[in-house]
Amino acid sequence: MSSAAVAVASNASTTASIQAHIDREIDGLLASLPEPAALSAAERRGILARYTAVLEGNFIYWMTGAYLSAGSDEARAKIIDNLREEVRDCHPGMLRRFTIAADAVPTGDDAQDVYPNLMKVRLFIGRLSPVPTIVTMAFFEGFIQRFMPYLADLARRQGSNEMEYTDVHGICDITHTQELYQALDAEIALSPALPADEMFEGVGLLRRLIENIVVAN
Ligand SMILES: [Fe+2]
Repeated sequence: MSSAAVAVASNASTTASIQAHIDREIDGLLASLPEPAALSAAERRGILARYTAVLEGNFIYWMTGAYLSAGSDEARAKIIDNLREEVRDCHPGMLRRFTIAADAVPTGDDAQDVYPNLMKVRLFIGRLSPVPTIVTMAFFEGFIQRFMPYLADLARRQGSNEMEYTDVHGICDITHTQELYQALDAEIALSPALPADEMFEGVGLLRRLIENIVVAN
């Protein structure tokens, strides 16, 4: 095997082990979600509101951080496709319609509940470290896609039938997640090996933020 082929095989196995780690994080998060039927209407509204407070104004911003951090044309091309879809199809507007229909528009208190953990993710993204940022966004996309049935269930229990946001993100984020792993492959080829705590720092911060969406404090 040529040295180039060895390098490709090694990148692919690094990406596969990162993906396995992320999948375990997502499985753990989903398993920790409270049963929607066991929640009060106020608790369901709070989850919908805090989710919106985090996602509406930050998802495109953080994906832009991933774009700015990327050093390879291949990764940039994958991420820009994702951003184009977000902007062209106005995903923040789609989320806002979903939240209005569920009567769960975030209040100042909802935003304040997630503020400290949100800031930690913002500052992490601001470091623009290519591999850890793309790992974090792959975790985010993968989680969002698998979280959609739960979010839709909460909204339905709040009396809403407006499901465009959850329908679209339950499907399009499958492709987005795969594309982020392809972007990750390209970035790993350009980066020195990283210790696990550095590689998954953003995943840990984002996981705490998501746990904070589910439980206010
Ligand atoms: Fe989106």
